[in-house]
Amino acid sequence: MPNPGKTFYVTTPIYYVNDRPHIGHVYTTTLGDVLARYHRLRGDEVFFLTGTDEHAAKVVDAAEERGLTAQAWADQNAAEFEQTFAKLSMTHDDFIRTSQDRHKSRVTQYVKALLDSGDVYLGDYEGWYDAGQEEYIPDNKAQEYDFKSPFNGKPLIRKTEKNYFFRLKEYRQALLDYIEANPGFVQPDSRRNEIIARIADAEDTPISRTGANDWCIRVPGDEDHGIYVWIDALFNYLTTVDTDDRRKFWPCNVHLIAKDILWFHGCIWPAMLMALKKQPGYDWVELPTQVYTHSFWISEGRKMSKTLGNFIDLETIDQYVDQFSLDALRWYLSTQGPLGSTDSDFAKSKFIEVYNSDLANTVGNCASRVTNMIVRYFDGVLPSPGREDQLAKSLRASAEGMYNNVNAMYEKTAIGAANEAALEVVRAIDNYIEQTQPFKLAKDDGQREKLGAILYQCAEALRIASLGLYPTMPLKIQELWKMIDCQYDVENGDLQAWTKWGGLKPGATITKGAVLFPRVQKD
Ligand code: MSP
Repeated sequence: MPNPGKTFYVTTPIYYVNDRPHIGHVYTTTLGDVLARYHRLRGDEVFFLTGTDEHAAKVVDAAEERGLTAQAWADQNAAEFEQTFAKLSMTHDDFIRTSQDRHKSRVTQYVKALLDSGDVYLGDYEGWYDAGQEEYIPDNKAQEYDFKSPFNGKPLIRKTEKNYFFRLKEYRQALLDYIEANPGFVQPDSRRNEIIARIADAEDTPISRTGANDWCIRVPGDEDHGIYVWIDALFNYLTTVDTDDRRKFWPCNVHLIAKDILWFHGCIWPAMLMALKKQPGYDWVELPTQVYTHSFWISEGRKMSKTLGNFIDLETIDQYVDQFSLDALRWYLSTQGPLGSTDSDFAKSKFIEVYNSDLANTVGNCASRVTNMIVRYFDGVLPSPGREDQLAKSLRASAEGMYNNVNAMYEKTAIGAANEAALEVVRAIDNYIEQTQPFKLAKDDGQREKLGAILYQCAEALRIASLGLYPTMPLKIQELWKMIDCQYDVENGDLQAWTKWGGLKPGATITKGAVLFPRVQKD
């Protein structure tokens, strides 16, 4: 392993088990998968976590309506998330469910430690609650929202109850200091500014609810209170790796989330970790390196909604995979998605445009051209590199520069830009072919050596580009590797060494293979 001891831990939110998986869940998990595959390819030891958030109050209601126990309903729906992610070739290393004992017992321990230290205390709550989001809303925010949920428009509920509170206010300054000292902690920058503004008036926050039924983790020592679902859920990132063989993955490198849940991840979560870290036995609980907050997918220009009929549900996702391939979907999500602070539109016409220009006309076309010419002019035997002229040198420089460019982008979670950096190399090959016109040289026997050198350079640059494209398009790139006689241990990679020039050896067997991305007509 080229990066001994270097670990990379990436998480997605754990999804509410009441929902069916849709493009939003698939999006964040795809980003996690791309990052995980990239880091495995670099040789890091990776832990990629996703899962389901199960103790929401509405799970009990939904189960009752169906005459099921909450557990049976959760089992059914968690299975759907797991099957969806398996079908989409996600490579998570674990799937955490908050109803599992391994999670519940750890959460009980953490909350006990916070009760013992006084960071959690019993108090009275009176205020607003967004039942759909399972979220307590401060008075000033409730007013701003006109007492309606900003997420589903339903009226906020007035709640008066005895609650356990976490002393969030006491951590205000420490959080602000931390964020200032670690500008990469909340990304992108616009979200960092947003969270700084909100932390400035953070109040103590309820972490329990009363009238708890059996569907929750109890507050230790108090049968009347259940731990508030959000607190239970946030701890998943820690419970899953709080074992002797996994503690090395902490602190988490990237928590991927969307803007709807920034408050919990950018404020409550790090504050709870700060509190826990002070307790005996928890000095290893550092803060996560990054909370990366993306925006939302909308669909065909409008907010996704079931009634508008523009919801990108599992059936729609399947149709895209069938028509364009899974890797094409991953490409669209990774390069056109809402990684920044504006929402992105999932629209069929845009999908086809991007598919044709990046994949059919660029990656796919370049792979066909290069392999076809080697098969046609050299019977599929890779020729020798020969001498490099100026044009060849510049192609080589573009390929050799890719590793640093791609790496710098992945370090910033700039997944779209990392893909663009790899695609640049494919474009450089296309340019090189335009400039050197190998199909013309092929007509002249006296130019065989030159023709061979050009085709070697194209194939070698293509190989290097393919490594940069692999994390996003693992299936198609593996097909391409078969065509150019390459094999890589992608679980245990050495990307830096593999992207050095000269990996392809003259004499290698090049085959045509199927067209990777057939062109699609816009209908
Ligand atoms: N259970 C909580 C998260 C707990 S994490 C400790 C939750 N679940 S959720 O099922 O509502 O999932 C929210 C997440 O799904 C978002 O943060 C985002 O990752 C993803 N998305 C849901 N809808 C989305 C879009 N329309 N667009 C992009 N991603 C979105 O909140």
